[in-house]
Amino acid sequence: MTTLDNWKMTIENLQSQDELDKAKILFLGKAGLLTQEMKTLGSLTVDQKKEKGKALNILRENINQAFLQKKEFFDDIILNEKINAEAVDVTLTTRPRAQGKLHLLSQVMEDIETYFGNLGFKLEMGPDVDDENNNFNALNIPQHHPARQSQDTFYLNSRDANNKNLLRTHTSNIQTHILKNQKPPMRVLALGRAYRSDDIDATHTPMFHQAEVFVIDKNITMGHLKATIIDFLRFFFDEKDLAVRFRPSFFPFTEPSAEVDIKMKGRDWMEILGCGLIHPNVLDNCSVDKTIYQGFAAGMGIERLTMLKYGIKDIRQLYENDQRFLNAYGRV
Ligand code: DAH
Repeated sequence: MTTLDNWKMTIENLQSQDELDKAKILFLGKAGLLTQEMKTLGSLTVDQKKEKGKALNILRENINQAFLQKKEFFDDIILNEKINAEAVDVTLTTRPRAQGKLHLLSQVMEDIETYFGNLGFKLEMGPDVDDENNNFNALNIPQHHPARQSQDTFYLNSRDANNKNLLRTHTSNIQTHILKNQKPPMRVLALGRAYRSDDIDATHTPMFHQAEVFVIDKNITMGHLKATIIDFLRFFFDEKDLAVRFRPSFFPFTEPSAEVDIKMKGRDWMEILGCGLIHPNVLDNCSVDKTIYQGFAAGMGIERLTMLKYGIKDIRQLYENDQRFLNAYGRV
């Protein structure tokens, strides 16, 4: 039986906030035990009333205090439960996350950059959007040249009908910019995207990448060009005896010009790049003194190099970003 006498124990034994609410009504409510006790005061003498009234008031204080303490105790339990429930287990291992890899084309460009960088070639990326003067005229590519036809070149809206804007058709436009704006001697690796209005098939895409190396200095000869190219190709294809041959050819911006073939182990001769000594007209067009300086240049397709080295048969695989392809050829 709960009585006013055992209030202390009763409150101490409360198990929950709910029980506490009920006990509060039982002791302190309008019809509660303490209120009932107060009502008995009326039948007492003035002195007894004084004494008992004082005692009951103290008792009420004490009971209130005990309820408050008990409530704090329950509040603490609830708070701790909440903190535990919301806790993050920092010792839990994370879910595995796929790590991105360097795309094969980026790897090849990075390798080329590193190789030529070590030889003192400065990387230039030039503008992708250029004009006919820089992309064609300065490079001695005549007006009637097929590369200038609109089925080969993406022309852009242009104010000057005689010098239309376009997406560069090769990274040779970088040569124009550098020759015009920097002082020789120079060694440059021109690297970036080129655009041609081609169909998309196993060997063509309207956007592709080219690397062009060129050197301007005094007394530059075909010998410098040949050594540079042969060493590079042997490094790139990782065959120290790779057979390399130079065939006479024609490019408007070089004279003499050559096409270069390689013969990888167990395979036929394959054309790999074009090169030559920079045409005197190009030097003139870019205000480089041809009586003092000569130069060589070589241009190659990054996709072609990549496909030959890694045995990729369809250029489109380089752009589809199939996860299996990216994982198989990606480099971390
Ligand atoms: N610009 C040529 C092209 O887009 C590639 C090229 C060939 C660049 C011979 C050169 C070179 O510098 O000497 O097809």
